Amino acid sequence: MRLAKYLAHAGVASRRAAEGLVREGRVTVGGEPVMDPAVDVDEASGVAVDGEPVSPEPAVVYAVNKPAGVVSTVRDTHGRPTVTSLVPSGRRLYPVGRLDADTTGLIFLTNDGELANLLMHPRYEVPKTYRARVEPAPVGEGALRRLREGVELDDGQAAPARVRQVRPGLLEITIAEGRKRQVRRMCEAVGHRVVELRRVAFGRLRLGDLGEGKHRRLTAAEVERLRAAARL
Ligand code: URA
Repeated sequence: MRLAKYLAHAGVASRRAAEGLVREGRVTVGGEPVMDPAVDVDEASGVAVDGEPVSPEPAVVYAVNKPAGVVSTVRDTHGRPTVTSLVPSGRRLYPVGRLDADTTGLIFLTNDGELANLLMHPRYEVPKTYRARVEPAPVGEGALRRLREGVELDDGQAAPARVRQVRPGLLEITIAEGRKRQVRRMCEAVGHRVVELRRVAFGRLRLGDLGEGKHRRLTAAEVERLRAAARL
């Protein structure tokens, strides 16, 4: 495995930051400084950063029920609380994709950058399900049909969505894309404003009864199911 990737897997830093550490001369392999982040290493290579041995961390994935007002980035320039601060883990965790600050519900945090990329890559089309409370209510058949057929957005047509009206003004929408504010913009495009948005499922994993602001670690079987959702 490439050195920078190995460091990222080990939770030392993101792939890009790991490349920086290597170029700064802080990384040794078998006691020798190495300046090339592409050099091939494995667990037996004796990789160290600033003299500290690095061993690969097991991959962990947490499901978090993000409250409104919490941002889904690692840091926020406006000082708002971040989703990573909801999980007191000694590991360096990254959010898998983004939810708007005012969207609640299921988001994953992981130290496995490869898995995060897989789940977010448009090529793998992992379905994500949202509950959207919209106004005005109810949503008419014509609007539902347009959502199901794929509405025109200002950055191109949205793919057909799975949509059902759970009760008047409450839609359950499943999309495989992940464009910025996509569900809100889709609803607006058919004349309805989203007043509340919650993600209730990602792939086949459902939010279930996980309380707002709470987290739980996924089991190995659940992580495998997520990988399967990305059609690995
Ligand atoms: N669609 C949105 O509009 N917002 C989100 O946070 C997620 C999907």
